[in-house]
Amino acid sequence: MSSHQHINARQISSETFKNEEPPAKRRQLSSCDDGESQHLRRLPLRAAVVEEGQSPSTTDELTVQSGKSLTGEEITCNNNNNNNIEAVDFSVVSADGTDDRTSKDYYFDSYAHHAIHEEMLKDEVRTKTYEMAIMQNKYLFQDKIILDVGCGTGILSMFAAQAGAKHVYAVDCSSIADQARQIVELNGFSDKITVIKGKIEEIDLPVAEVDVIVSEWMGYFLLYESMLDSIIFARDKWLVKENGIVFPDKAVMYVCAAEDGDVKRDRVDFWSNVYGFDMSPIRNIALKEPVVDVIDGKSIVTDATPILHLDILTCKKEDVEFEASFELKALRNDYVHGLVAYFECAFTQVHKPIGFSTSPFCRYTHWKQTIFYLPESLVTCTGETIAGEIKCKPNKKNRRDLDISITLSVNGRHSKFTKQMNYRLR
Ligand SMILES: C[S@@+](CC[C@H](N)C(=O)[O-])C[C@H]1O[C@@H](n2cnc3c(N)ncnc32)[C@H](O)[C@@H]1O
Repeated sequence: MSSHQHINARQISSETFKNEEPPAKRRQLSSCDDGESQHLRRLPLRAAVVEEGQSPSTTDELTVQSGKSLTGEEITCNNNNNNNIEAVDFSVVSADGTDDRTSKDYYFDSYAHHAIHEEMLKDEVRTKTYEMAIMQNKYLFQDKIILDVGCGTGILSMFAAQAGAKHVYAVDCSSIADQARQIVELNGFSDKITVIKGKIEEIDLPVAEVDVIVSEWMGYFLLYESMLDSIIFARDKWLVKENGIVFPDKAVMYVCAAEDGDVKRDRVDFWSNVYGFDMSPIRNIALKEPVVDVIDGKSIVTDATPILHLDILTCKKEDVEFEASFELKALRNDYVHGLVAYFECAFTQVHKPIGFSTSPFCRYTHWKQTIFYLPESLVTCTGETIAGEIKCKPNKKNRRDLDISITLSVNGRHSKFTKQMNYRLR
């Protein structure tokens, strides 16, 4: 069964699941953090472990242009492209020249920088699904009070206003709220949308109740970034008790298994022999970090199975901590190098349910997929099963990190294997 048949196949318009295209090239990640409320989804994942005051430690988080090296010396390039490297300017000046924030400020409040919003807005699967869900269900918005949790540029608030909302409260803790206010004014919505800059947990709303909450809160592996807590907080504090609407209201996470030898060799096994040196202590660390990247649907060798169902209308903070048993059936004779997790999201409190998928079989989204590489590859034959158990909980020291343990058992013709692996998504 293809993965997108799993979730809500009966409930959700297949329209948004059809748009398959070749997966985009594997790319580095980017994201957000504002010190206290650091929602780190789209930061380079490593940024999560950098403390305030430190500089990013790797150059791939910086823009490096031609010229001198980072230390100022002339360098010789060995790649014949003549793209020498220039010292990086850490100051960031906005178009009107008034912004004296440095790139460090953006680094620690990355939702402040337009690039992250550009990435999200250009994710058409994501943004158009929200637009369709709102505009095709105007009756839910007409003359209603709406709360947009984490409004960013204000895009969802403006969809809601276009759909006829009586008033929209657009809340964001990042300085992107300043631009959202300007955008709202520029587009003639000042009387309909009030932008409030602050953490949802700390602000006062001028109303006691809202009819609809809209939010785009989903992180990598659905739960990474723990913004779900903020939605639950807002829901419990302000959403009308009778017939309150949350957009979206359902999310389901799946796992399947993949043949992905080339990438595993490149990212993990690479450390076993680096210019002839054994760097396998790093291999063991690399293995424990799930990789957020695009995986081609052709690499998926088993069916997919759900491991988590979230109903956003009723879920609790504790639901981020979950355990699930699963069974995957091999669809062909192949190797298995890793487990792949992805999620689907749906708006079901509407006339005609709609949703989108981050499945490897569907069109690219900026969430990509999350891949858990195995220490050794498995060999599976068509019809054999891989039995598994997954446990996920926020890390004790840093609750935004996720500790994920996976146990897999195979008793096949070529592989007999029971192994427990511990991963940390950070
Ligand atoms: C994924 S972005 C979505 C932005 C916008 N809604 C969109 O769809 O393009 C999430 C936004 O939520 C904001 N945010 C995260 N946690 C928040 C909190 N506790 N209170 C207010 N805003 C928050 C971030 O600053 C970020 O701009």
